[in-house]
Amino acid sequence: MRNYRVAVIPGDGIGQEVVPEGVRVLEACARRFGFQVHTEEFPWGCGYYLQHGRMMPPDGLDRLRGFDAILLGAVGDPRVPDHVSLWGLLLQIRKRFDLYVNLRPVRLLEGVRGPLSGRGPGDVDMVFVRENTEGEYAGVGGRVAEGTAEEVALQTSVYTRRGTERVLRYAFELARRRRRRLASVTKSNALQYTAVLWDEVTEALSREYPDVEVWKLHVDAAAYHLVLNPQRFDVVVGSNLYADILTDLGAALQGSLGLAASANLDPSRRSPALFEPVHGSAPDIAGKGIANPLATIWSVSLMLDYLGEEEAAAAVLEAVQAVVRDPRLRTPDLGGSATTQQTAAAVLEVLR
Ligand code: NAI
Ligand code: MG
Repeated sequence: MRNYRVAVIPGDGIGQEVVPEGVRVLEACARRFGFQVHTEEFPWGCGYYLQHGRMMPPDGLDRLRGFDAILLGAVGDPRVPDHVSLWGLLLQIRKRFDLYVNLRPVRLLEGVRGPLSGRGPGDVDMVFVRENTEGEYAGVGGRVAEGTAEEVALQTSVYTRRGTERVLRYAFELARRRRRRLASVTKSNALQYTAVLWDEVTEALSREYPDVEVWKLHVDAAAYHLVLNPQRFDVVVGSNLYADILTDLGAALQGSLGLAASANLDPSRRSPALFEPVHGSAPDIAGKGIANPLATIWSVSLMLDYLGEEEAAAAVLEAVQAVVRDPRLRTPDLGGSATTQQTAAAVLEVLR
């Protein structure tokens, strides 16, 4: 029997509320589609930090290494600086496991009212491929003369040809399996070193993929066109920072951060892949039981797809679609009054 090992890190805030629902969906799929899933939970995050002074134990990554996949909620707590919580757990996993593809589908589902007037599901259907290990989040830099009037802070972007090429190649391949359109986002008018390297690699690869139509655009123009012409986007590839920002815009286009899912992948599969909602720990609504669990459940669908359980993956996405179609089953972020548990229970019901 197919058997998968999944590490579960609920993390902080609403991560604690939405991840258990994601696990229930995973288990329901195992029963219905005839595979086994073994989950193990790790209590890491800001709560752990406040007790132990670190976001995870020193051997944390080694303990995760043997799993097929990781499901993570979110990290972040007002009592811990955000750069400490992000660098201490999530960025460690992404970088040390070399999960260089951050896949973020942006799709307006039927029944959800998006913010753009006159636009429907057919207009907003794209997937972002975010570079996930280098670029602006390389972590290179420093501060000198701290606290003085002469203080200087440097944060250096690192773009390697290898890192750029591998993520672009993944995006070209993905475009080939979709509508064969690739938007490549940079800022190569102002950033004459890093972004120009990215553009050159894009051009070189586009000769290998003549069937994929490439649209090179600056990140400011991308923000503009995503709002006015979302239908022009199919696969969108960009650096760590730009795609991070644009995917929150993407989440808005799909109606809520509560629907935005993501996968962090090493396509060579040397390390476990990580699946997580795009949103954070949402301290403003944490503990109220009203967080939308669908971003996490959609991320479980991405996990199932990655594990080779395509049928289960499609069933989960269909169940999500069925649930948001019904106004009574929507959480407050989508204009409804359902709770986290009611929405998730409805997904489970459809799956059964
Ligand atoms: P956030 O994504 O937590 O919240 C932004 C807004 O969206 C809030 O109004 C929140 O209530 C709403 N929202 C988010 N997810 C929702 C859901 N599932 N259902 C309904 N509404 C939802 O971003 P924010 O406020 O900037 O950050 C809060 C904390 O989370 C910070 O500590 C930040 O560093 C951390 N963070 C962590 C991330 C991660 O672990 N991957 C990603 C983004 C932020
Ligand atoms: Mg973000």
